[in-house]
Amino acid sequence: MVDGAARIRPLDAASESDVLVPLDRLVNGERPAAEVVAFYRAYAGLILIAEVDEEVVGYATLSGPYWNRILMMDHLAVVEAARKQGLGRLLCDAIEAAARDRGARFLTVQTARWNADAIRFYERVGFTQRGVFPDYMGDDNDLVWLDKRLSS
Ligand SMILES: CC(C)(COP(=O)(O)OP(=O)(O)OC[C@H]1O[C@@H](n2cnc3c(N)ncnc32)[C@H](O)[C@@H]1OP(=O)(O)O)[C@@H](O)C(=O)NCCC(=O)NCCS
Repeated sequence: MVDGAARIRPLDAASESDVLVPLDRLVNGERPAAEVVAFYRAYAGLILIAEVDEEVVGYATLSGPYWNRILMMDHLAVVEAARKQGLGRLLCDAIEAAARDRGARFLTVQTARWNADAIRFYERVGFTQRGVFPDYMGDDNDLVWLDKRLSS
């Protein structure tokens, strides 16, 4: 449960990436901790974490801009015990603000089609489904592309 106030702040990927190991599992499944740490140390985008009482309870990442000022939220996860209390929305809002600072026209997210909970969440916080990419996540594992228009 979230008792205290949540704080969103950028993660220092060089020194703090180890805190992402349990959160990374929620979006990428099991992989060796050293691989996870190396991945986030090398990640070129912005990594935000949500903390409550100095405990890391969620994270989200932003990369781009790519073509025509499209930015992508590459990861978003909140620990199970802290879900449905507004932290996912808070992280999305912070990512959206950072995307706007970078001049974004669209903020995009992709998730597996089977992840109906995530799709409902994204729609709830203002994203629109734009398309399905068959087999992009693996055989018989489709990807859903959603976005939110931020400017013209
Ligand atoms: C998706 C996830 C980040 C949502 O985080 P959260 O902190 O529970 O979300 P919030 O509490 O901020 O919810 C925001 C809104 O979405 C709604 N929502 C959240 N989860 C939902 C679900 N499973 N189904 C429908 N609506 C949902 C909430 O009711 C809330 O609506 P409201 O503000 O109108 O009341 C979290 O469930 C998670 O980490 N899931 C596992 C990882 C994952 O799937 N990541 C995304 C795809 S890679």
